[in-house]
Amino acid sequence: MHVEAREKLYEGKAKIVYETNQPGVIIQYFKDDATAFNALKKGTIVGKGVINNRMSAALFEVLQRARVPTHFLRTLSDREMLCHRLDIIKIETIVRNIVAGSLAKRTGLEEGTPIKQPIVELYYKSDALGDPMLNDDHVRMLRLATPGELAWMKRTALKINSILRPHLARRGLLLVDFKLEFGRRGRKLYLGDEISPDTCRLWDSRSKERLDKDRFRRDLGGVEEAYQEVFRRLVTEPHGPDSGHRRSNAGSRIPLQ
Ligand SMILES: Nc1ncnc2c1ncn2[C@@H]1O[C@H](COP(=O)(O)OP(=O)(O)OP(=O)(O)O)[C@@H](O)[C@H]1O
Ligand SMILES: [Mg+2]
Repeated sequence: MHVEAREKLYEGKAKIVYETNQPGVIIQYFKDDATAFNALKKGTIVGKGVINNRMSAALFEVLQRARVPTHFLRTLSDREMLCHRLDIIKIETIVRNIVAGSLAKRTGLEEGTPIKQPIVELYYKSDALGDPMLNDDHVRMLRLATPGELAWMKRTALKINSILRPHLARRGLLLVDFKLEFGRRGRKLYLGDEISPDTCRLWDSRSKERLDKDRFRRDLGGVEEAYQEVFRRLVTEPHGPDSGHRRSNAGSRIPLQ
């Protein structure tokens, strides 16, 4: 059936969500706009929308093959993805494998410290409040999710980590941490939103070069090149053990830090 975009449902910082002529089906349109620190810092990362759309699609397919329910239906174009409409749960679920960002600040541990057993963190999806961290009791108090839903979200987040971490490692990428959004559709929960260098910290396995939005946040330069490099390793190259490594060391123009 032919799909057409209808009413704009929501315009966020990175994407626009449209209703379609099919009930319960939306289009996510990926923009090049970039923000950080709760939109205090704004900019453009040329080509980001295309990369985030294509990369998210590729990873949603990997997860679906492993029986993780995702909202992804199909890719419509370079910047558009067709998805099930979800009632998004106002919790950002973070999984961490290596200490970075706010966890380094909060604990005093050095960025790059490995975490033996992956950590799951919950944040309140509220721009007005600056996305504060929550625990299970706060989630219950705010009625953001039932205890059963929360348990499923945490379990599924760790399952997603156990699928994506080796998948990315085979492409020369360290999955440092990432953010997930889940939502309800009928009586079931699904993974929604996106999985991209905007929502994951990805480091080159060998050099530990940052290949994600931290380049933008921290003014490290080579932002577009980093997104392109991740895209090349994940989407445009035939897979092979370590295929990412060799090429990137030969041709990378991303400044090392
Ligand atoms: N399948 C879906 N159905 C409905 N909404 C979705 C779905 N997947 C993602 N969303 C929501 O669509 C919006 C995507 O836009 P974007 O990522 O630009 O938002 P944002 O600027 O990060 O703001 P927000 O704080 O609302 O996430 C988000 O609010 C996200 O929660
Ligand atoms: Mg978002």
